[in-house]
Amino acid sequence: MSDNNIDQHHIWHPYSAMNSELPVYPVESANGVRLKLTDGRELIDGMASWWCVIHGYNHPEMNAALEQQLHKMSHVMFGGLTHEPAIELTRQLIDITPAPLQTVFFSDSGSVSVEVAMKMAIQYWHAKGQSQRQRFISLRSGYHGDTFGAMSVCDPITGMHSLFKDILPEQIFVEQPRCRFGQPCQPEDLAPLEHALKKHSEHTAALIMEPIVQGAGGMWFYSAEYLQKARELCDRYGVLLILDEIATGFGRTGKLFACEHADIAPDIMCVGKALTGGYLTLAATLTTDHVAATIDQGEPGVFMHGPTFMANPLASTAASTSIRLLLNSDWQQNISRIQSGLETGLAPCRELKQVKEVRVLGAIGVVEMQQAVNMQTIAPAFVDAGVWVRPFGKLVYLMPPFIINDDDLNTLTAAVVKVVKHHKV
Ligand SMILES: Cc1ncc(COP(=O)(O)O)c(C=O)c1O
Repeated sequence: MSDNNIDQHHIWHPYSAMNSELPVYPVESANGVRLKLTDGRELIDGMASWWCVIHGYNHPEMNAALEQQLHKMSHVMFGGLTHEPAIELTRQLIDITPAPLQTVFFSDSGSVSVEVAMKMAIQYWHAKGQSQRQRFISLRSGYHGDTFGAMSVCDPITGMHSLFKDILPEQIFVEQPRCRFGQPCQPEDLAPLEHALKKHSEHTAALIMEPIVQGAGGMWFYSAEYLQKARELCDRYGVLLILDEIATGFGRTGKLFACEHADIAPDIMCVGKALTGGYLTLAATLTTDHVAATIDQGEPGVFMHGPTFMANPLASTAASTSIRLLLNSDWQQNISRIQSGLETGLAPCRELKQVKEVRVLGAIGVVEMQQAVNMQTIAPAFVDAGVWVRPFGKLVYLMPPFIINDDDLNTLTAAVVKVVKHHKV
């Protein structure tokens, strides 16, 4: 059976059907910002493999660090054992995240780090003798992952999980903040959140939200003041705040973590995706000494989670090398360069009738179409234009590796303008 046959008939891709007619492109290798297909074509990557590959592919320093670690140990269990890669990474994470976050729980993927965050919040209240606090408040149009707990806090409609709604824990949803990034937020913008907290705080463990950028649920950028006020409201109503920085973390929005736009710290924070520079899968849930100590003091005296591949040494090495590379670069200047390039390059889309809106924040550029795109035709159109862009629904968006140069960025945005202009749904 040919490779193509195996792929089409025997392998699931994300949110895919077996025997799908939608194209899937075989990649032979990847270097810098370029993906090389097996037919020899090269594509400029506009997706950073879904927010992850911030330093580009096949990075010499990342490769060298991983090779070195490979010869020491690629994996060892984390129960009763520890190792330098995890310790070094923890040191860095504690250092670069908001000061109150002092303890780190490693897991394998973003979704699992969200599960862990939710369990931490529930166990915290259990330890405080408030076991009835098991529900979560979440924002409409949010996305937090595909596992059961994470699905329950995704938008029930745009979050792609409505099929499972009858078996998911029922959470409390409040309207998406409509106050935009860079703008103030009015009392009426906050009213739904305050209402939910007032009504449900007795049974609520935490408010969970993506700070500033709602990603897969709509690529929407909201006001930093909303986030600031949400923190105040959580304090006022005695509810924990979980920030999901899985997509936004490590510089993507122009701050190292998006919560810095609002100058606030969460009680629990999830990171993943760009954590390892896209080399390996790893995520982490950070929390405060207070939350950790409360959990320790309650029943059963330990935090009830422990993945097999927790703090995998290769993944931890990738993460600490990636963080070092980021901090040693002029990343802020670089993100603002990419932001300008995206703004200028995508501006012509604003004139197109097919386009509802163009928005840019940091190294994220979004073209919201009037109607959902046709994946059957738009995917090959982007490949023919020499770029890798994967829209979903009405959203055509770019989040390139941070190392992209101006010429490649121009090619990327010009391709978006051209493809969007000629796209027929
Ligand atoms: C904000 C956010 N949270 C959680 C997740 C889930 O992460 P993972 O796909 O690694 O499980 C994602 C993935 O897109 C995300 O964007």
